[in-house]
Amino acid sequence: MSLADMRRVIDPDTYFDHNSPPTNLQWAHDQVDEFVKRQSPDQRIVLVTSGGTTVPLENNTVRFVDNFSAGTRGSSSAEQFLAMGYAVVFLYREQSLQPFNRHYSHNSKGLLSYLERGSDGQIRVKPEWEQQLGRDLDLYQKFTGEGKLLMLNFTTLSDYLFLLREVSLLVASLGPRVMFYLAAAVSDFFIPSHSMSEHKIQSAAGDLTLRMNQVPKFLGPLVKNWVPLCFIVSFKLETDPELLGPKARHALEKYGHQVVIANMLDTRKQKVWLFTKNEAICPAAIEISKEDLDAGKDIEQDLVVELARRHQQYISDAK
Ligand code: PMT
Repeated sequence: MSLADMRRVIDPDTYFDHNSPPTNLQWAHDQVDEFVKRQSPDQRIVLVTSGGTTVPLENNTVRFVDNFSAGTRGSSSAEQFLAMGYAVVFLYREQSLQPFNRHYSHNSKGLLSYLERGSDGQIRVKPEWEQQLGRDLDLYQKFTGEGKLLMLNFTTLSDYLFLLREVSLLVASLGPRVMFYLAAAVSDFFIPSHSMSEHKIQSAAGDLTLRMNQVPKFLGPLVKNWVPLCFIVSFKLETDPELLGPKARHALEKYGHQVVIANMLDTRKQKVWLFTKNEAICPAAIEISKEDLDAGKDIEQDLVVELARRHQQYISDAK
């Protein structure tokens, strides 16, 4: 990297001085504060991040660059963590998949195809959907009602980073019983607010050339300064299979956290690898068959069971 390029890498510590916080920051702060106080002293807590961040091209945003993620990994994992007794803070991209809702919100059917009007004129769920929908509704109401599921939403990279830092600082003192499960797809490039066009970029000027700055990797400050005692799981997404192992190992060495889950874009629903300090050369693989996948099984069921086991060990070792 040239000196000029290095200058363009924004320091994580100063990022927050140069970007505006999201409008829901104070609300999120209060919600998380209350959520944490409501939990019993030995309650395991997980922050699940989910969905992709956007980076706006204009301050009055008409256009933005998006990061790929439907939110399947995060929302499915959140359900599994809840089933295993965790309290879950779900930090998700607005309009991406949400726990329990995910089966109905983003498929080709649409809400109306689950409903019908009965002979009494009342609208009701079609009988063939009653069982599944009833189960998801019950679970959703149970976990939110018991104060075990808290949902916070973000849209832009900046929203995400402010909220991630806020939640981190609020749970840091709880130490090893908190897991960070960073499944969100986070932008690597952005345009700082002061370099952005104020209004909609005009097409009259012809072709558009974009110059974007590198986003600092926030895993560094997260692991070292924000939540040094928590159990941290990050993800590594690649499309080139040659890069996946080396980059997962590199992340582990660079940040020194507990687990890097490596996945390939095209097989992410069927296979992931768990890289840890002791399994950097031979990572454990978690895989489900095509038949299981087609039958509706989510890989996150096995993945979360394995992570919860490792997290428990981490908690015991810390005592
Ligand atoms: O939602 P789905 O459709 O189910 O897809 C799930 C997924 C493929 C998005 C998910 O499994 C996944 O891999 N998420 C991480 C994607 C990602 O951001 O990968 P990365 O290799 O660019 O970043 C690696 C890690 O660095 C991530 O944990 C990220 O949180 C972190 N990061 C990234 C950018 C940045 N500026 N700062 C960071 O700390």
